[in-house]
Amino acid sequence: MRQWKKLLLASVLLLSALLLLGSVRQPAEPHLLPAEEYRLISPLTYRYLLSPPGPCRDSSPFLVLLVPVAPQQAAARRAVRGTWGAPRVGTLTLFFSGIPAEGLQSPQQRALEEESAQHADIIQMDFMDSYQNLTIKTLMMMGWLGAHCPGAPYAMKVDSDIFLNIFHLLRRLRTAPRAGFITGSVISDGRPRRDPSSKWFLSERLFPEERFPPYVSGAAYVFSSDMAPRISWASRFVRPIPLEDVYVGLCLRLLGVRPVYSLSLPLFRNLFQLQKLQYDRCSFSRIIIVNGFQPAELLSSSSALLSSSSGWRCPAVN
Ligand SMILES: *[C@@H]1O[C@H](CO)[C@@H](O)[C@H](O)[C@H]1NC(C)=O
Repeated sequence: MRQWKKLLLASVLLLSALLLLGSVRQPAEPHLLPAEEYRLISPLTYRYLLSPPGPCRDSSPFLVLLVPVAPQQAAARRAVRGTWGAPRVGTLTLFFSGIPAEGLQSPQQRALEEESAQHADIIQMDFMDSYQNLTIKTLMMMGWLGAHCPGAPYAMKVDSDIFLNIFHLLRRLRTAPRAGFITGSVISDGRPRRDPSSKWFLSERLFPEERFPPYVSGAAYVFSSDMAPRISWASRFVRPIPLEDVYVGLCLRLLGVRPVYSLSLPLFRNLFQLQKLQYDRCSFSRIIIVNGFQPAELLSSSSALLSSSSGWRCPAVN
């Protein structure tokens, strides 16, 4: 009988130890992705087709602007080069592209090569350029930055249809952290869309969780450049999903890095505006980004902002 009691006690102890272990391990230990799954998103899988020789070889810029573009978006690139992406001391602007849907023998590809020869600011890899492949493109940008420009303190991923007040951003970055830093419009209540007709549809099989961790909207975000190799490293553990900004958020969670909101003082306005705003000199002079600009609008509002910069007379706070 005593033997039996001992056995019972031992199994109860063993059981609770197992349960305890289980609960400690709850925030699932990261597992390396299966090789074939990681291969899909790893930049090592793909080849550089266009890669201008060493933009950071001689000196590191303060801020690298990484702009994802589709191959045929020549007008958008022209607008960016003519506005916030124009060559200036301390910044470097680079465009990242995949292969046009029409293939490598197409006129679209030839035009891209000609543009690249003229401007030396286009980096192209041999994956199909598509909306679903933006996660690959983001990891390509992170890989490129880590390998070619590790000495730049900051980088920004910014879409070509964004109004960017580069002066205000550079001012803000003077006092920003130099490591473990990522900022933008933080989305902390995101959930997967389960409706298959949605542009952002995510199946339960691909992403079983009910919520997204906090992430920065993919339209534009700024980070200390140490984050590039860290995100590349984390991507070995995080299952690819086609939502590139959520994907970066999943990598951040694994790294234990919290994205931070960018707010103006004293009124706590969001400096990364996700909705489209009408151009207004005074409010745009105090903001970092505004979303949703066609190339022509970008050119006209940016030149308006620049030409008025000498004598800004705006209400003290708005
Ligand atoms: C993504 O790129 C890969 C590599 O080029 C290609 O095989 C795949 O079809 C692309 N996916 C989509 C949805 O375009």
